[in-house]
Amino acid sequence: MSASLTTVAYLGAAILFILSLGGLSNQESARRGNLYGMIGMGIAVLATISGVQMTPAGLPWIIGAMVVGGAVGLYAARVVQMTQMPELVALMHSLVGLAATLVGYASYIDPAASAQFTGAEKAIHEVEIYVGVLIGAVTFSGSLIAFGKLSGRIGGKPLLLPARHLLNLVALLVVIFFGYRFLHAETVQAGMTPLIVMTVIALLFGIHMVMAIGGADMPVVVSMLNSYSGWAAAATGFMLSNDLLIVTGALVGSSGAILSYIMCRAMNRNFISVIAGGFGGGDAKPAAKGAGPAEPQGEVVPVNAAETAEMLREAKNVVIVPGYGMAVAQAQHTVYEITKLLREKGVNVRFAIHPVAGRMPGHMNVLLAEAKVPYDIVMEMDEINEDFPDTDVAMVIGANDIVNPSAAEDPTSPIAGMPVLEVWKAKHSIVMKRSMASGYAGVDNPLFYKENNRMLFGDAKKMLDEVQVALKAA
Ligand code: TAP
Repeated sequence: MSASLTTVAYLGAAILFILSLGGLSNQESARRGNLYGMIGMGIAVLATISGVQMTPAGLPWIIGAMVVGGAVGLYAARVVQMTQMPELVALMHSLVGLAATLVGYASYIDPAASAQFTGAEKAIHEVEIYVGVLIGAVTFSGSLIAFGKLSGRIGGKPLLLPARHLLNLVALLVVIFFGYRFLHAETVQAGMTPLIVMTVIALLFGIHMVMAIGGADMPVVVSMLNSYSGWAAAATGFMLSNDLLIVTGALVGSSGAILSYIMCRAMNRNFISVIAGGFGGGDAKPAAKGAGPAEPQGEVVPVNAAETAEMLREAKNVVIVPGYGMAVAQAQHTVYEITKLLREKGVNVRFAIHPVAGRMPGHMNVLLAEAKVPYDIVMEMDEINEDFPDTDVAMVIGANDIVNPSAAEDPTSPIAGMPVLEVWKAKHSIVMKRSMASGYAGVDNPLFYKENNRMLFGDAKKMLDEVQVALKAA
């Protein structure tokens, strides 16, 4: 492929990526957005391969790598559950970081690459390598720790080293010092020592940064690492002089940064404080491992499916709050069947979506869209929170942290200050979950003990099936 054709293909791919991001910002256009992204990536890969100057011996390597990478990607896409997506995404971010680091080393060691540059250009190229390896290594180790935390392999409690801010500052100064040594190294051999020392510091910094973030703040970390992986890709683009990689990396980097900001606002967190670590603390643990039953705080009132159906039938206004448990139980289709039954009976049913419900941004919206719930009855938290006092029944399906009143009422709570869905203000609330276990943040939930709250214990899908049968029978 000629250089100008490659440029045109890259331009087309970049435009498709921008359209893809635009599409993903809205549920109705999200599918189209995904399609644009896939076509854009297909064009980008083809244009890159055909634009590469290589010896015939290089081709089998590239094809082999694509087959192996494609097979692993296909396999992962098939076996990974929706609820494991954030872990998978964290793992993929770590690969972007690793690639940036390896490309940095390769372009520094490769005599042909370094021979291209002299004088100021050489200095710029070396800055690109140093910064690219730095961002790549932080992204790599930070994402691996995020993977461990999200999958419950590592506890969610923040690791707060004494004088951690000072440690970070010293690490930054050492990185700057070795950066100076790297840029002034006479030979590649001499430059390797500062590069390796910086890489080790960056790896340790990535581990420290994510270990210091509490379980409840993990949503911010996921999007923050998404942003880092974008900048790592952009840095790789500079090292390889690949314009498309620079543009794509910048798109991912900036959209990830915007998403992190939105997440912080949704959770009432200060972005810088989250990055500096130590928020979302307490005994926070991911629910996947170790979230045992919470200490009893009073009496809970259990109900059965028939009583739940009765309460729903008699209501005029119902708000359904889906959470992580609905995703685990795959109960979204039954939820919609119940919604249709209630609407046929003249009940006003709406859904309330918390920005960090589930385990990834937009998790609940994706599930409800899959079940074909109409978008006009799916409300954001800000749109619906003030309607709870006029709601007869708020039905909470496998949600916990996002409806925890202690976020608003207990300043010592690890989730204090996080805006939540105020379901306890409804005339009645019904919480559907299997036990009294805490949610992702590992925090007890006083909602369960409120006088106007009822507990429907059991798997969400099973209980909703029973509710549906009871509603149909009436
Ligand atoms: P959680 O607070 O994690 O609560 C989910 C509840 O669902 C659990 O208490 C669990 O109780 C119940 N559950 C699990 N499986 C169930 C099943 N099969 N049937 C019925 N119930 C089931 O979820 P949430 O309220 O959606 O809040 C999200 C949390 O995840 C927040 O703390 C948020 O910060 C964090 N987080 C979010 C994201 C993003 S971006 N959304 C990313 C990482 C972390 P039982 O075990 O008793 O059933």
